[in-house]
Amino acid sequence: MNTEKLRRAVRESGEEDNMFYFDPRIIDWDEYFQHIHLPAIQPNIKKLFLLVRASDPNMALHRLQSEVINKDLFRVIKEKYGKNMHTFISQKIKVVAGDVSLENFGVMDFDLLNEMRRQVDVIVNSAATTKFDERYDLALAINTLGSKHVSDFVNECFNMKLLLHVSTGLNL
Ligand SMILES: NC(=O)c1ccc[n+]([C@@H]2O[C@H](COP(=O)([O-])OP(=O)(O)OC[C@H]3O[C@@H](n4cnc5c(N)ncnc54)[C@H](OP(=O)(O)O)[C@@H]3O)[C@@H](O)[C@H]2O)c1
Repeated sequence: MNTEKLRRAVRESGEEDNMFYFDPRIIDWDEYFQHIHLPAIQPNIKKLFLLVRASDPNMALHRLQSEVINKDLFRVIKEKYGKNMHTFISQKIKVVAGDVSLENFGVMDFDLLNEMRRQVDVIVNSAATTKFDERYDLALAINTLGSKHVSDFVNECFNMKLLLHVSTGLNL
């Protein structure tokens, strides 16, 4: 949609037509995602530990399935892997039921925690409450202590290379 609008705007302006014109309709997007985009980003990620806010592992798995995997975004992977989709997902993604407001994310399975400490080398943390009128204790627990718990965990990891903390800075 945006590329189409951009293409129209470039054509209408006339001047940069030769430099920038291309027709996005000639791109086979399924083919692009399956053979270029996904292969380019996926092989370097051996395993993803995905922290999902949930009371237990089954509930976390259910959330992954219903809120992520079942979305249309995953259609191309489903078509590619067919019946092996579940095996592919379970090899790549380890769902962890947890809560950043708790120390060790509330994970009581110490074997799992140690596995994460050994294997995790990149952490992306975007867990947050984004309500401006959030209850003070919840905002403190999730956004402030949550960041501290992530940072504490980073210091316990043996091979940590990168912590990417996604947040918002406001000047009030
Ligand atoms: N979206 C933007 O345009 C934008 C722009 C700039 C900066 N940011 C910043 O980026 C961060 C994420 O924003 P977002 O838009 O992605 O927010 P979001 O859609 O509300 O996602 C926040 C996620 O954090 C999870 N979470 C909340 N509390 C948690 C806890 N205690 N333990 C584990 N997970 C928890 C939520 O899980 P549940 O599904 O269980 O609620 C949700 O999946 C925020 O700091 C925000 O200020 C966002």
